[in-house]
Amino acid sequence: MSVQNPHKIDTSKLDEIIGSYDCKKSNLIAILQKVQEVYRYLPEEALIYIGTKIEGLSPATVFGVATFYAQFSLEPKGKYEIKVCDGTACHVRGSMPVLNAIRAKLNMPEGQLTSDNGLFSLETVSCLGACGLAPVVVINDKVYPQMTSDAITIVLDTLMKEEN
Ligand code: FES
Repeated sequence: MSVQNPHKIDTSKLDEIIGSYDCKKSNLIAILQKVQEVYRYLPEEALIYIGTKIEGLSPATVFGVATFYAQFSLEPKGKYEIKVCDGTACHVRGSMPVLNAIRAKLNMPEGQLTSDNGLFSLETVSCLGACGLAPVVVINDKVYPQMTSDAITIVLDTLMKEEN
């Protein structure tokens, strides 16, 4: 099953979000967080719309804020956001073979951030503060400790089966 990445934004949904934050420019970050929750990223059209809809803002200001904060993504994210820790402890204990196993399983060459079916996005992160469990992979909010290539392949197989 493939996940739809909404290329067309629903302006009534955006109006609802903006309205729930009183159309105030001081609530811009909260508005962007909510929009990202809905779309799993910040579509360009949504940023332009917000910039023209809220008094005192412009699309350029909204883009500036969206690109300044690391929490915001202007690229589509998968339903499953995979984070492979490549901090020192995880690296030493084999995070790279785990990362390579994920790339192979999802057919994602280096540089590709989201799988072709839109289900998985992949990134490496620095220390997640769980070095005792290294190497660590986080998928959405779930932590997978002491991962190996085989173990992560089984995890991905399970997620893929759930989607079929
Ligand atoms: S280095 Fe991976 S959790 Fe600390």
